Amino acid sequence: MSTAPEGGQVPTGRSAVVAGIGSYVPPDVVTNEDLTARLDTSDEWIRSRTGIATRHVVSAGTATSDLAVEAGRRALKSAGSADVDAVVLATTTPDHPCPATAPAVAAQLGLSDVPAFDVAAVCTGFLYGLASAGGLIATGIADRVLLVAADAFTTIIDPEDRTTAVIFADGAGAVVLRAGRPDEPGAVGPLVLGSDGSLADLIEVPAGGSRQRSTGRGAPPEDHFFRMRGRDTYRHAVERMTAASRKAVERRGWKLADIDRFAAHQANARILTAVADRLLIPADRQLSNIEHVGNTGGASIPLLLSQAAQDGRLSDGQKVLLTAFGGGLAWGATTLTWPDLDPF
Ligand code: UT7
Repeated sequence: MSTAPEGGQVPTGRSAVVAGIGSYVPPDVVTNEDLTARLDTSDEWIRSRTGIATRHVVSAGTATSDLAVEAGRRALKSAGSADVDAVVLATTTPDHPCPATAPAVAAQLGLSDVPAFDVAAVCTGFLYGLASAGGLIATGIADRVLLVAADAFTTIIDPEDRTTAVIFADGAGAVVLRAGRPDEPGAVGPLVLGSDGSLADLIEVPAGGSRQRSTGRGAPPEDHFFRMRGRDTYRHAVERMTAASRKAVERRGWKLADIDRFAAHQANARILTAVADRLLIPADRQLSNIEHVGNTGGASIPLLLSQAAQDGRLSDGQKVLLTAFGGGLAWGATTLTWPDLDPF
């Protein structure tokens, strides 16, 4: 379940250190009232079941790479240098099935020659992206990596499906990671990651891949939309994020009581509270932005960190616990001490 050796850091001693952070949400906002006008739902149901009041959505013609480029640009500005050796993009909504979207993002940022690839881990994409980027740094392939997590989830949501249309939204967050020491502020701690593909059908887009194409028949239109079995997903989300969080804190050599800020994937406000309660993390240490951005998939953790750092809820020296859960199933957790940087 863990990608890190017991008790420790990457074998080379070169850790990935957060050197810059940025985020972007598209300007269009959809309110709960907008949704109740066309769906059998209510502001009360959405707020009480999910904690969401408004969310940002892409306009026609906008793709994931557009969000990713803007977040990436801001992270590079935050890092004070546009010089990176690799670009990793975590996304569930690539611009096209082929090729990967990361090279297009790199090219638009003026980074045409660097290695660039996508990571597919749905809502845990940012943490799997940290593992990928950290590996590039640990092995010496790269000294500086731009990791972007971006999703235009509304492009795969059935607008008529009230069980998903009220939850999912669009956005992007990005960090610049540089090679550094494991004991410096911003160093990404031991990563705890896991998956359970036997439960892949809890969260899926059934059509569009080789399984459906190999039958030679077109899939029904609804099979191209995202589906989630919410109640079952909820239970696994709470269990997996709680267990992964405990392990990540223990492997860092910290205690749960040491955690100053809890930054979980913004899946649902009730899930966040349920996990934090189990970890005995008080409300004033829990970061949340789901009320205003909804569930932005893999983008949610860096978007949350960036916004919290900008508005002062997160400041340097604080011990942060990150955890995520989503389709795959896939989950993870890690820790870091927040570094002194200018967020955008
Ligand atoms: O980000 C990746 C990971 N995702 C998650 O972790 C999400 C996990 N799940 C959830 O967040 C929640 O399960 C949901 C927010 C999706 C649903 O909340 P719930 O409390 O689990 O509701 P439910 O699915 O059990 O549905 C309760 C009722 C049902 O009606 P009946 O069968 O009780 O008559 C649904 O049909 O609520 C109904 N319902 C709605 N009613 C009004 C479902 N969606 C809506 C809606 N408006 N939008």
